[in-house]
Amino acid sequence: PRAIWLSRHGESMFNLSGQIGGDSDLSPRGRMYAEQLPELVRQSVGDAPLTVWTSTLKRTQQTASKLPYPKLAWKALDELDSGVCDGMTYEEIEEQYPEDFKARDDNKYEYRYPGGESYRDLVIRLEPIIMQLERQENILIVTHQAVLRCIYAYFMNVSQDQSPWMEVPLHTLIKLTPRAYGTEVTRIKANI
Ligand code: G3H
Repeated sequence: PRAIWLSRHGESMFNLSGQIGGDSDLSPRGRMYAEQLPELVRQSVGDAPLTVWTSTLKRTQQTASKLPYPKLAWKALDELDSGVCDGMTYEEIEEQYPEDFKARDDNKYEYRYPGGESYRDLVIRLEPIIMQLERQENILIVTHQAVLRCIYAYFMNVSQDQSPWMEVPLHTLIKLTPRAYGTEVTRIKANI
């Protein structure tokens, strides 16, 4: 690829209530990000052709909805499946599944939610996406925090087991440019 742009979905209603997973809508602030994203992208991409990839969840599609480029939704880009903890806050998980909460804290990369996924599972699920990505021209990926952490670690040549700790903030467009010596990173923060 020439360059890859990464963005999390705008702030969602679940982000506001501190719940994980689910399929909530964007919050009012998240919708402001969706409004600003076309200009943010245009300033960075210019007139070059671009394809937008999203997950199948509403919050990524709503974030991409104003972008004037072809779009493709991938199930493989859906957020890390938190299984029985889907829709819960971290406080609720700590209370209802204290052993799981501790196990995740001890090994966040390997920890698999009951009925759900681990970061390691996610890295494996993303392999076909990475393969496709390597063969494309300019792509903008609008997806979820855990997913972007894994994609980011891959292109930054950081060991996959460090994925859970990659910094991928909300309302920030990240540009990755693969070079012979490594990947160049630019971060563009939206003004919200
Ligand atoms: O559940 C998915 C979140 O985006 C990732 O957050 O892995 O730091 O709990 P966490």
